[in-house]
Amino acid sequence: MKLEPLKIKAQKEVKSAKNLKELDGLYKKYLGKKSEITQILRSLKDLPEKERKKQGRLANQIKKEIQSVLELQKNKFQVPRPTSPEDEVFGGRASSKFQEKEFDITAPGKKIILGHLHPLTIVRKEIEEIFQNMGFSIVEGPEVETEWYAFDALNIPKDHPARDVWDTLWLKPKAKSQKLLLRPHTSPVQIRYMEKNQPPFRILAPGRVFRHEATDASHEVQFHQVEGLMIGKNVSVANFKAVAKEFFQRFFNKEIKIRTRPGYFPFTEPSFEIDVQCVICNGKGCSTCSQTGWLELWPGGMVHPNVLKAEGLNPKNWQGFAFGMGLDRMAMMKYKINDIRLFYSSDLRFLEQF
Ligand code: DAH
Repeated sequence: MKLEPLKIKAQKEVKSAKNLKELDGLYKKYLGKKSEITQILRSLKDLPEKERKKQGRLANQIKKEIQSVLELQKNKFQVPRPTSPEDEVFGGRASSKFQEKEFDITAPGKKIILGHLHPLTIVRKEIEEIFQNMGFSIVEGPEVETEWYAFDALNIPKDHPARDVWDTLWLKPKAKSQKLLLRPHTSPVQIRYMEKNQPPFRILAPGRVFRHEATDASHEVQFHQVEGLMIGKNVSVANFKAVAKEFFQRFFNKEIKIRTRPGYFPFTEPSFEIDVQCVICNGKGCSTCSQTGWLELWPGGMVHPNVLKAEGLNPKNWQGFAFGMGLDRMAMMKYKINDIRLFYSSDLRFLEQF
C-alpha cells in the first residue's frame, strides 16, 4: 500500500478504537515488526540512493504521525498515573501491557484511617497541662532504677515489705554492682531532681511503673503514676490541699469536694490520703466508691525531713509536699472505664472510642 493511504487508514482505525486492547492491536498492526511501515523501512536499502532518501524521509514521517495518533488515543483511555519504564507502552518492550481498567472519578475515595492518641496519653497530657498552668515543670526519670533511688533515699527501711520480691521486680545483678529493679513507683524521680536542682521548685513526673502483682480489673503489672513535688520556704499543708482541689476541679471540670485523711508513707511526715467525693455518684454511694461516696485518689504528704537531708537540704530552711497519683485510675474515673487491663490489651474496639 502507498504510504499516504496507509496513514489515512491507520488514523481512521485508531480513532474508532474502543479500548486499550484494540489500540494495542493497532499498534502492532501499524508499527510492529511485521507492519507495512517496518517492511518499507527495511527494504529501503535495496533502493538507489536518491530514491532511498526520499522514501526514507516520507516513511519516517508517516510512522511518526501514526505514532502520535496512537499516543493521543491512548491518553484518552488511560488512567493518569506515575510513569515507570514498565509503562512505556508505545515503542517499548511492554507494548501489550495496556491497562484496561476504567477510572470512575465519581466513586467515593478510600477512607484513610487516622491514628490517635492512647487514652492514657490523652489523660497524661491533660494532667500535665493543668499542672503546668500552676507553675509545675514536667520531668522524667528512668524506668530501671537502683535500690538507692527507689528505696533508701526515700527513707524506706531495709525490711519494708515493698522491697520484697513479691512487690518489686528485681533485675539480675551485674557482678557486685548496685541492685537494679524496675521502679515500683515514680517517687525516685523526686530524689533525682533534688540531687541536681536547688529549691524552690515545683515538678511533675509522670511515668510507667512496675509491680509483681496478680492482675485483675484494678491491678496490672505495669501501670502509670504521676509524681508531684513542691519545695519552697513556706510551702504548707494548706498549699497542698489547695493544689489538690484546684487540680481535681479542672480535671473533672466541675465543683469537687475533697477530704484529707491521715495516711502513712516512709517519705512523708505527716502523710495523707486525699479523697475526692465520688465523681460517678456525687457522694451518694455506688459500686465504684464501694458505697462510701469517696474515692481514694491522691496519696501524699509533707516531704520527710530525712528525705530532704539525704539530698543535702536543710529541713529548717526548706519544706514542701509530694504526692503520687495513679494515672490509670484517673483515666478510669474520667472515662468511666471499669477494667485497667483494657488500656494494655491493644483491643481496637476499646481504643477507637477515644
Ligand atoms: N510512691 C507511692 C506509691 O507508689 C505514692 C506516694 C505516696 C508518692 C506519697 C508520694 C507521696 O510522693 O508523698 O504508693
